[in-house]
Amino acid sequence: MKVVVITGSGGLIGSESVEFFADKFDLVVGIDNDMRMQFFGKDASTSWNVQRLIEKHPNYIHKNADIRNPKEIGLIFQEYLNDIKLVIHTAAQPSHDWAAQDPYTDFSVNANGTLVLLESTRKYCPDAVFIHCSTNKVYGDTPNRLPLVEQETRWEIDRNHKYYKYGIDETMSIDHTKHSLFGASKVASDVLVQEYGLYFGMKTGVFRGGCLTGPKHSGAMLHGFLNYLMKCAITGDHYTILGYKGKQVRDNIHAYDLVNMFYHFFKDPQSGQVYNTGGSRHSNCSMIEAIKLCEEITGNKFNYRYSENNRIGDHIWWISDISKFKKHYPNWQYRFSLQDILIQINNELILRLT
Ligand SMILES: NC(=O)c1ccc[n+]([C@@H]2O[C@H](COP(=O)([O-])OP(=O)(O)OC[C@H]3O[C@@H](n4cnc5c(N)ncnc54)[C@H](O)[C@@H]3O)[C@@H](O)[C@H]2O)c1
Repeated sequence: MKVVVITGSGGLIGSESVEFFADKFDLVVGIDNDMRMQFFGKDASTSWNVQRLIEKHPNYIHKNADIRNPKEIGLIFQEYLNDIKLVIHTAAQPSHDWAAQDPYTDFSVNANGTLVLLESTRKYCPDAVFIHCSTNKVYGDTPNRLPLVEQETRWEIDRNHKYYKYGIDETMSIDHTKHSLFGASKVASDVLVQEYGLYFGMKTGVFRGGCLTGPKHSGAMLHGFLNYLMKCAITGDHYTILGYKGKQVRDNIHAYDLVNMFYHFFKDPQSGQVYNTGGSRHSNCSMIEAIKLCEEITGNKFNYRYSENNRIGDHIWWISDISKFKKHYPNWQYRFSLQDILIQINNELILRLT
């Protein structure tokens, strides 16, 4: 029997992974305790998504377990042992603003939880491929020191800089920079996953995401930027742009395209590899460009104000250079553009909000 274990299976990337792998594995074991609701309130609960997966996929089994609990997680792994061929770890406390209000919880979920999963994999299914969702926040605010140029609707990097053509690659230092507490707990997990590959020889891959997005995000003010923006565009809820004149740039990748990267890595894995991943030059926008697109798609005027106070450590300009991944896996390509993503989010939200 072939089993895939997916943590955070009710979340954006976890649920997309369930959809993607349901017809490729005999059994999909999802682990999610709906902690997203505890982080961001009941509008951010992912239980609706878990329910949907249970109803849609007969080979999906849900475990309402906490990834921080070695006993609970160990029992799940013991049940399937070496039948587990793939572990996709997406469960996390994902917001850097939230982390500062409860550093213990943030660190225990992001760092300790990852350690529990790595140890369970090493103990019960050491040959399984282990995929970890890391973040571009591991680079801290170093990207803000790049030579940026102000344009009409966005910040852009100087044309002569080596990152201009493809974006920021994996050689940027993750040291001597302000990470936020969230960034620090993600660095811990990122390095742990690398180490289990480099030290123990396990097949581990770290994917450092820019903005990960898609219609199945349970968007909240503190996390799930495009989804939350579109929600405000539809409902008329008020939104506050925080700093940088609203010209901060994020690259956005559809959850499907990311999970398809995981699939390519699974088919031809390596040990302790690290990849930057995101929309790259293919799909990116500034805050005010995203608002304009939301207005065009919904036909509604966006209700927002501007505050000079940027979020601590927020990136002014981030474009992921995905060349390393493309070089290792040349057959992978994007399926969705920024426009596709926003239209899908709008269509899904209209169904969910009415
Ligand atoms: N969404 C983004 O823009 C983005 C960007 C970069 C990196 N990432 C990373 O990608 C991963 C997935 O992000 P996402 O957007 O799908 O997040 P998400 O919040 O949508 O999903 C995470 C899921 O994990 C669950 N969870 C949290 N703590 C748990 C615990 N202790 N035990 C069991 N389940 C728990 C939550 O209930 C939630 O359903 C995270 O590691 C995140 O840090 C996300």
